[in-house]
Amino acid sequence: MPEAKKFRLLIVDDTEEALVFLRSLLEMNGYICAPAASAAEARELLQQQAFELALCDVNMPGESGLSLVRHILAKHPDTATIMVSAMDDTGIANVALEQGTYGYVIKPFEPNEILINIANALRRRKLEQENRANREKLEQAVLARTSELRETIVRLEQTERTLRQTQEDVIQRLVMAEELREKGAPGHIQRMSRYCALIAARLGWANDRCELTRLASTMHDIGKIGTPDEILFKPGGFTPDESRLMQQHTEIGRRILTGSAELLMVASTIAWTHHEQFDGSGYPRGLVGEAIPLEGRIAAIADAFDSMTTKRVYKQAIPVEQAADVMRLGRARHFDPQLLKLFIDSMDKVLAIRRQYPDAERTPAS
Ligand SMILES: [Fe+2]
Repeated sequence: MPEAKKFRLLIVDDTEEALVFLRSLLEMNGYICAPAASAAEARELLQQQAFELALCDVNMPGESGLSLVRHILAKHPDTATIMVSAMDDTGIANVALEQGTYGYVIKPFEPNEILINIANALRRRKLEQENRANREKLEQAVLARTSELRETIVRLEQTERTLRQTQEDVIQRLVMAEELREKGAPGHIQRMSRYCALIAARLGWANDRCELTRLASTMHDIGKIGTPDEILFKPGGFTPDESRLMQQHTEIGRRILTGSAELLMVASTIAWTHHEQFDGSGYPRGLVGEAIPLEGRIAAIADAFDSMTTKRVYKQAIPVEQAADVMRLGRARHFDPQLLKLFIDSMDKVLAIRRQYPDAERTPAS
């Protein structure tokens, strides 16, 4: 048994004769042995040094071998245990094995019987230690991966927030450039886009889609960048040719915003279709009813309501109730009737948006 020299064995037995016999047998087979005549003595030795295995008698004065084995399993889990007893009692043997002891040898025993039990116990101990080490390694790897994953998610969320903010900032500046040129009502975009999000929310759309609709709708008139000054700032009515030039802001907006990102696709749709009317009398394509994309129908209501209730260089504002009446009258003609109902039914929220985003120059009280 060439490997045996590495192993330190604790032999616990209250019988001097048994101690002497076991010690000489095991030392002859290469084990390093420490004898203990009681459980108390064994506990002391276990405090002082590590053992690969403990052979414990069951019946001893004072603390029993079963109690000592429980202590070893709890406090010294790297020490394997084998019980040695004169009691040929399967009940006790089962209790001992259930506790976690590796073997139960009945006295008197053949020398080989004890040696085989010890060799088996040591092998099993080695396998269990390897299993435990592998399990711990695996648990640590899982913990490390989980932590890495959590950090990655936090970083991604931060990046996403930054990207969203950057995107919104860029859009705001683009819209601001168009607003400054048009010298339009300063709060129009803020209110109109929030009315759009309000209708989207009343349709039951998810928050992300409502927010997308809000952001996309801020760019609905971006095409006016391409409208000539003499048309954009003309105080009176338009000739048919001038009207056509003005109406081109929808097509120009579509061209500016056409892209593959979802935000641009929705923005392009809104820019292109926010002047379509439900009865087909709108522009640029004269689309009818549900052929007009939903976002375009939403934007038409939001844009018309805010335009009516806001003072512009060429017109006065009308009170909110009057604007709602005008829109109701034109319900089946200009606007999607279901969407208009959702909007008018949310008038308390509409008024809250008006209060939150007033123009620098106040419009008449609602
Ligand atoms: Fe427009």
